Amino acid sequence: MKRPISSLHFLLFFVTLLQFFPLRLPADPVQARHGMVVSSQPLASQVGVEILKAGGNAVDAAVATGFALAVVHPTAGNIGGGGFMVIRFPDGSATCIDYREKAPAKADRDMYLKPDGTVDAQKSRQGILAVGVPGSVAGLCYAVQKYGSLPLAKVLQPAIELAEKGFPVTAGQARDFQALREDFARYPCTAKVFLKPDGSAYQQGENFRQPDLAETLKRIARFGAQAFYTGAIADLIVQEMKRHDGLITKEDLLNYRAVERRPIRGTFREYQIISMPPPSSGGIVLVEMLNILQPMQLRSLGHNSAAYVHLLAEAMRSAFADRAKYLGDPDFVAIPVAGLLSKSYAATLREDIPRQRARNSLALHNPDPTLFTHESEETTHYSVVDEKGMAVSVTTTLNGGYGSLIVVDGAGFLLNNEMDDFTARPGVPNMYGLVQGQANAIEPNKRMLSSMTPTIITRDDRLYMVIGSPGGPTIINTVLQIFLNAAIFDMDIEQAISAPRFHHQWLPDRISYERDGFSPDVIEELERMGHHLAGRRRIGEAEGILYNASGQYYSGYADKRGEGGAVGY
Ligand code: DON
Repeated sequence: MKRPISSLHFLLFFVTLLQFFPLRLPADPVQARHGMVVSSQPLASQVGVEILKAGGNAVDAAVATGFALAVVHPTAGNIGGGGFMVIRFPDGSATCIDYREKAPAKADRDMYLKPDGTVDAQKSRQGILAVGVPGSVAGLCYAVQKYGSLPLAKVLQPAIELAEKGFPVTAGQARDFQALREDFARYPCTAKVFLKPDGSAYQQGENFRQPDLAETLKRIARFGAQAFYTGAIADLIVQEMKRHDGLITKEDLLNYRAVERRPIRGTFREYQIISMPPPSSGGIVLVEMLNILQPMQLRSLGHNSAAYVHLLAEAMRSAFADRAKYLGDPDFVAIPVAGLLSKSYAATLREDIPRQRARNSLALHNPDPTLFTHESEETTHYSVVDEKGMAVSVTTTLNGGYGSLIVVDGAGFLLNNEMDDFTARPGVPNMYGLVQGQANAIEPNKRMLSSMTPTIITRDDRLYMVIGSPGGPTIINTVLQIFLNAAIFDMDIEQAISAPRFHHQWLPDRISYERDGFSPDVIEELERMGHHLAGRRRIGEAEGILYNASGQYYSGYADKRGEGGAVGY
């Protein structure tokens, strides 16, 4: 008679099997001594780490990761969009590269208004008129040529190979491709790239090749950004514009420049914040909120307790009201930066916050920031650090998932729909529900205001955290909460990123929160205080690195809200 297999036997069998086929469970958070890349696609993180191992610095690795994301994360990784890069050098100095898209010269303030004066939201979100002049190629090439240590061609090589040979479609991508099948099919140039010849969607695990994109990347590797802005790729972009009656001309491309800007700097207790200045609202809004919160006893309130959510939401309300009123492209509008960053301005905002009661956004009156002075000094994010301690924080975007949905025929890449980040009409919400003002009105050659918040934080002037996220306006609050989770509540990078998040952006006047992450008691208590609440599935997808100064190692985590990965060595 056969004896039944006991559980002990089974365990022994399993362990024996493991010796031959070791289980490679990803250890989260990933720890590494030399360098690390965390991005929303593990293949792109791997590319960055290979560049580090080949002697590249954090900028080389970031640029290699960026081009790789343009291949393996087409929903947001891009060469047809724009982004921001914050770099902190090992000596503590820092700089920012702004390669945000610009409005074409032919754009005008009322271009999305119908004859009756209402906004034609479709026009700014999908199709050719939604497209801003792309900045990514200018920015990435500028970064590697000025601050990298390897030749551009070497940094681009892995992306070229991924485009040429293909990569397995991820579960999330297969879902997107299926859901967007009809949208892709409306543009033959897009269908050619993102659908199979029979019009069906690629399935998870199938190999996805992008030969036109490989050619485009090869041209950039050979001729630099010029290929994109004046050469063969520029010609293809302009042809695409002509085909659909778009606005971008040869001159728009020729005139595009990435701009280096001074970072926004702020402090929070023993931490120093280095983040993106306008045309991103990220750095200013983040520092303004931290200034408001600094003296508050946050830890004793308890993480994500009603009292804690209330105080943060009120700080968000104040700072986002200023975002709407004052922020825009600094090359076009005067921004009271010093006042907005000043601790005394924040103190007056703090005094206006009731402890137990929600305010009304429409009745909010922030004082005039110019009366204060500064006493001291579907998007994707990736964070990179190298062996010498150079840190790079990049957020890049097409705006919506797959941007305008238009692929430049023959060049194989998607164009952005960033124009929707402008104010189409003051008072009318954009795709993210943001109600914005004149400072962000459309003007020829102007950059649209962003919420992307690539950030580097130091503690006692030593590298502490590299962090950022997609998520439109929620980005700034995601960065705020992750930082506070680590700094105030002692969470490691995995916990800090995984913890449930919430968001307030002044208007609409409500706290949105991750539905599965807050107890009914907390929600009821907030409602009693007068807050309006709206549950949603998830907020953001952060990619972060924390430096453990005592252990001298990096610890990285890719948000499980997405499909990313941290790779280190
Ligand atoms: O620049 C901005 O603020 C937006 N275009 C970012 C869009 C975004 O994060 C979409 N991701 N989910």
